[in-house]
Amino acid sequence: MSDLKGDVYYPSQEVINHAHVPNWDELNDFAQNNYEEFWAKQAEELHWFQKWDKVIEDAEKPFYKWFVGGKTNIAYNCLDAHTKTYRRNKLALIWEGEDGEERTFSYFALYRETSKFANILKSLGVKKGDRVTIYMGRVPELIMAMLACARIGAIHSVIYGGFSVEALHERIDDSQSKVLITCDGAFQRGKIVPLKSIADEALQRAGAVEHVLVIKRTGQEVYMEQGRDMWYHELEKLPVAAPNCPIEEMDAEDPLFILYTSGTTGKPKAILHTHGGYMVGTYTTLKYVFDIHDDDRYWCAADPGWITGHSYIVYGPFLNGATSFMYEGAPNFPYPNRWWQMAERYGISILYTAPTAIRGLMRFGEAWVNRHDLSGLRLLGSVGEPINPEAWRWYHRVIGKEKCPIMDTWWQTETGMFMITPTPSLPLKPGSGTKPFFGLQMDILNEEGEPVGANEEGYLVIKNPWPAMMRTIYNDPERFVTQYWSKYPGLYMTGDSAKRDEDGYYWVIGRVDDVIKVSGYRLGTAEIESALVSHHDVAEAAAIGIPHEVRGNTIYAYVILKQGVEKSPELVELLKAHVGHEMGPIGKPEKIEFVDALPKTRSGKIMRRVLKAQALGQDPGNLSTLEE
Ligand code: PRX
Repeated sequence: MSDLKGDVYYPSQEVINHAHVPNWDELNDFAQNNYEEFWAKQAEELHWFQKWDKVIEDAEKPFYKWFVGGKTNIAYNCLDAHTKTYRRNKLALIWEGEDGEERTFSYFALYRETSKFANILKSLGVKKGDRVTIYMGRVPELIMAMLACARIGAIHSVIYGGFSVEALHERIDDSQSKVLITCDGAFQRGKIVPLKSIADEALQRAGAVEHVLVIKRTGQEVYMEQGRDMWYHELEKLPVAAPNCPIEEMDAEDPLFILYTSGTTGKPKAILHTHGGYMVGTYTTLKYVFDIHDDDRYWCAADPGWITGHSYIVYGPFLNGATSFMYEGAPNFPYPNRWWQMAERYGISILYTAPTAIRGLMRFGEAWVNRHDLSGLRLLGSVGEPINPEAWRWYHRVIGKEKCPIMDTWWQTETGMFMITPTPSLPLKPGSGTKPFFGLQMDILNEEGEPVGANEEGYLVIKNPWPAMMRTIYNDPERFVTQYWSKYPGLYMTGDSAKRDEDGYYWVIGRVDDVIKVSGYRLGTAEIESALVSHHDVAEAAAIGIPHEVRGNTIYAYVILKQGVEKSPELVELLKAHVGHEMGPIGKPEKIEFVDALPKTRSGKIMRRVLKAQALGQDPGNLSTLEE
């Protein structure tokens, strides 16, 4: 592998010797030729109440099943299993609040707290298969809430704490959750995000929620509705909150969670993941890619409200018995060295974050980093969007001191686990996620479904099933088939375009649909547009993503006002604030332009590429389908 083309970073012998997989080709050959055996071996490292009969069931494609007949529970493998080993008193979670508060939990302590939480949920009537919405800041109770649901077989639906009223309402309504777990508020950049009052407003619009469980974090006065709302710290003191709670034995294919994500059209989709396959997928990928060992201090700096947090703050690390660190607040609060201060203090050895965070911290310069001893770091990671080579090199040189390989992991809410990713023994090229994970078959196709040549752009597809794959869209199996499996029948369409170079390295370019990645967060143009149109002055709206130096993309919106409404700079600000209130700050357009018409096809579809070309001052290309 010494004759790779381009800018190549080879791992040191030390890195290779330490890695679970020193020889990437060898394990990949094995997995390619013995795919089911490869995954069965991984699954055998976890606990099953009853072993599976069949690794993969493909009788009803694309509704694949994994570890059929197996009985397990992911929460048992995350917690209970470790309390029976030398890890019982090992730290599972280290947490630092934005205000500097510190809390730690051993595996045994987290097991007890989670059991208490599970018993409280049961006392509120939550049963196996019920949906529970979780809308919280980054506090340890968020992790406990997720694991408590898993423990009793309830399906959690975590909504990112940065979302607001309408986004929350829509997701609660779709999932028909009986219970909502929230906090009084969340600290963010020294201010309080009033989660409870946002939830109250959302619940005025939504139906099925019977109980709201409130965790006290920020301490301000909040409205509590009698009979519906309860303080966690009060219930925790009652006998029902016993620190042991029997585990529910789950079928491998029983749902573990739904997580809403934006798609091509319409409402966000509830992506469904299961106890068995998702468990094996996240366990294995984290072990091999981030080379988890018992002495690591692992920090995934994402938010648990997104898939990265689900798979690699909560489930993956605990399945591996790792010590995981979570931080509540903003990276540069109160100063730009906050992250590096914590990385030093807690002896972080593995740091996993997003290109937007790296670019943001890069702006403050190296001096902030160099005040801290980061010699404990041995591996770095990146996720969420393509990392530009400049940010990659800065991350490698300034944070990793040229000794830490960077695991650029490409994957999605839908895939549940890393799909295109290096392991530490693979040579790296800045900006490339290298190759598909062991045993996976992926390809890049043109419109006709033929593989494209080296360095040619095409649609990225996945050709074989994988254990953590989404099983369906909750309540909408038809849309699951049409959205992902019908462009090329039998193949999973990722929605991304990519290239593959002459060394077989993949370079993901970006979304080919109406999904915008803003600071790594996934938003749908439809959601932003419907937030705009919900304002009484707006007749029609179109949103597009425009490249942005730090955030990757930023949102531009074109708005047609209702007749008689006056265009004004004040109205622009009002509309931005309106989107912020309905969707959350991440959905706020950077720029709003009033127009009299929007470019549309004859069938009435907005031609966003024309708007984008115009915004960027580029040639809009073929306009033959343009109506207006
Ligand atoms: O476009 C790809 C981009 O993020 C999309 C998936 O977004 P989401 O479901 O929110 O999951 C993000 C975290 C796993 C993909 O379709 N993406 C994710 N990781 C990368 C990436 N693009 C390039 N390189 C990556 N490493």
